[in-house]
Amino acid sequence: MKKYSLILLFFSLALIVVSCSEYSRKPGKTYAPDMVYSRAVDYYHGTEKIEAQNGSYNKMPVSGTIAREQALPDHIGENDTNAAKVNTCKFDLTDKDLEKGRRLYMIYCGICHGDKMDGNGPLYASGKFAAMPANLIGEKILKFSQGQIYHAIVYGKNMMGSYAAQLDTRQRWQVVAYIKKVQSENGGEAFTMLSKGSQGKDSLSAPAPKQEDKAEAPKTEEKPKEEKK
Ligand code: HEC
Repeated sequence: MKKYSLILLFFSLALIVVSCSEYSRKPGKTYAPDMVYSRAVDYYHGTEKIEAQNGSYNKMPVSGTIAREQALPDHIGENDTNAAKVNTCKFDLTDKDLEKGRRLYMIYCGICHGDKMDGNGPLYASGKFAAMPANLIGEKILKFSQGQIYHAIVYGKNMMGSYAAQLDTRQRWQVVAYIKKVQSENGGEAFTMLSKGSQGKDSLSAPAPKQEDKAEAPKTEEKPKEEKK
């Protein structure tokens, strides 16, 4: 009798242990364990070498990387005036670019060259800036090619500093386009810097969704809901 009750005690204890344990909550096999349990990789894992080289953990862009919306660098040196002369804008400029160019001109150039581009901006007119800014609608600069004006923005000229740091590639061409436009209205050659069929479009941002799509989409969604209620 004692033997049986001991066995009974053992099994009942075993039953309690098993039923209270986590065992039953864990189902058997995991299907595709490599997908269920992802292999976590710490950030900065494997960058020790990069840190040793750069003194920083951050991975640097590959040399020669060009930011989105930026043109390929033209590598025209300051004294390479022949190459500068034939350099042309590689962007598809639109009306919007022209408007942006006008704004940027007023911010960065107008103070010296004047809002009429006659070289008589407020800074020079007030006597605070001694050097006479070029008259952009004068005979000499009227004959400048777009590339030459661009060159002046990138490298500056004598007392005029470079504006390459303030204006990115596209913005420089926007300013050039605005100057060329005003020049064309003041005896310069015809203005041709906008791409054809570009009127009213803004090539800087993604194309806007079509008007029709916008108007139709909510209608089809709303109707079934109302019927259910
Ligand atoms: C601080 C005043 C100042 C500002 C701002 C300025 N310029 Fe000038 N700019 C000058 C002066 C001064 C000259 C004349 C340099 C010379 O011929 O000695 C000049 C010359 C020029 C020329 C003729 C270059 C040449 O090769 O003869 C162009 C084109 C020009 N500027 C465009 C611009 C544009 C575009 C901007 C705006 C991004 C600008 N400038 C901003 C002062 C300025």
